Amino acid sequence: MSEVPWVEKYRPRSLEEYVGNSEAVEHLIRWVKNWDPKGKKAALLYGPPGVGKTTIALIVARMFNYDLVEMNASDWRTAEKVSRVAGRAAEQGTLYGQSRRIILIDEVDGIAGEDVGGLTALLDVMRKSRNPVILVANDIWQPRFSILREVCELIEFKRLTSRDIVKHLKRICAMEELEADDDALKVIAEKSEGDMRSAVNDLQTVSYGRKRITVEDVSWLAVRNRILPIFDALKLVFYAKTVNGAKSAFEMVDMDPEMFFEWVYENVPAQFNAPEDLAEAFENLALADLFLARIKREQNWKLLSYALEYMTAGVAVSRRYSKPKWAPFKFPSRIKFLSALKARRELLNSLAAKIASKTHASKSKAVREYLPYLKAIAILNPSLCEKIGKNLGLTEEEFSVLGGLKEAPEKPSRVKYARRR
Ligand SMILES: Nc1ncnc2c1ncn2[C@@H]1O[C@H](COP(=O)(O)OP(=O)(O)OP(=O)(O)O)[C@@H](O)[C@H]1O
Ligand SMILES: [Mg+2]
Repeated sequence: MSEVPWVEKYRPRSLEEYVGNSEAVEHLIRWVKNWDPKGKKAALLYGPPGVGKTTIALIVARMFNYDLVEMNASDWRTAEKVSRVAGRAAEQGTLYGQSRRIILIDEVDGIAGEDVGGLTALLDVMRKSRNPVILVANDIWQPRFSILREVCELIEFKRLTSRDIVKHLKRICAMEELEADDDALKVIAEKSEGDMRSAVNDLQTVSYGRKRITVEDVSWLAVRNRILPIFDALKLVFYAKTVNGAKSAFEMVDMDPEMFFEWVYENVPAQFNAPEDLAEAFENLALADLFLARIKREQNWKLLSYALEYMTAGVAVSRRYSKPKWAPFKFPSRIKFLSALKARRELLNSLAAKIASKTHASKSKAVREYLPYLKAIAILNPSLCEKIGKNLGLTEEEFSVLGGLKEAPEKPSRVKYARRR
């Protein structure tokens, strides 16, 4: 079972649930109510991420009982696509007595990064529209948006106050039957810097496996912005004084869990010298690895806290007989190994592409059927091979592949290693 993100689960569906930016909200409602095809065709909602711009557009459409035609502008690469999709929707009106529509065009910043056509088409759609258009953007002060600024009703959304954020978090806690200290919610709110999406995500992360949230549980948020170098995070694991200290290590680095796993895994042997401790640490890492694999397979992120606990606190408490000693931290060798493999694959791929284009075969056929002959020629008749290589336009590196590509060795398995005792 995978957990629904709370930002979706608790996305406000009505004005009562929506917090903050009341002036902007009133402005928008007034504008929709008084919308007149001869006036400004579109409202442009702008402001920082996660403050409810998209959400309020959805709520307002529902309030007026309008159908919402939603489009994400970042998907639009070309003018043609914009006018095809949006144009049709905008022109259709109250034919056949169907209800009015609101056209929502989200993430306008993403439109027409390189291609001005997208923007021109957007303006055209607005001009033709017989329905209110709501545009949403983060940054509207880029020069290329100057016309958009002129023709739209501008409505600014501001960062939310901590008070507003706490109010929404409390509602979520109540629905989730989660007990949370006011101060803990305040820490989350303050750390989010007015971004409700990030606050709600933090609340969900912190609450995994907990029924109650205290200030202590959220204390790591306070240092998150000060991202630690990986070595400092490893110190927290290997020289942990408390279980919570070890657990906080992962939160403090900007790294995905699997990469963090590799770092811990690589460094366990140098940090622990007692065999009992080593065995215990690897046992815990094996469990972490199993959880990581399951998360990947089932996309079950709820399990992440278990994986993290085994690879941080689990390793930290494995130290019973080993004395803490200084040893330099090492870069994970599996990562090095995998990137070497990747480079090898890329090389083979570019070689195959060259053979394929000369022989009018597919790349896989080039590898399967032509490459073995080229390799044989390289051994039997090196000078001929050199000529062929020149003719194919091979780089020196690609040419070296013909000299004998070794089969890629099997990727070493971490779990197997950990289980061998
Ligand atoms: N004012 C708010 N009141 C309650 N919840 C909110 C509010 N603003 C945002 N949220 C929560 O945060 C999530 C993200 O909000 P939304 O998508 O509306 O942000 P946005 O301003 O459109 O951000 P972006 O600029 O990144 O698109 C919502 O699903 C909702 O759960
Ligand atoms: Mg949005």
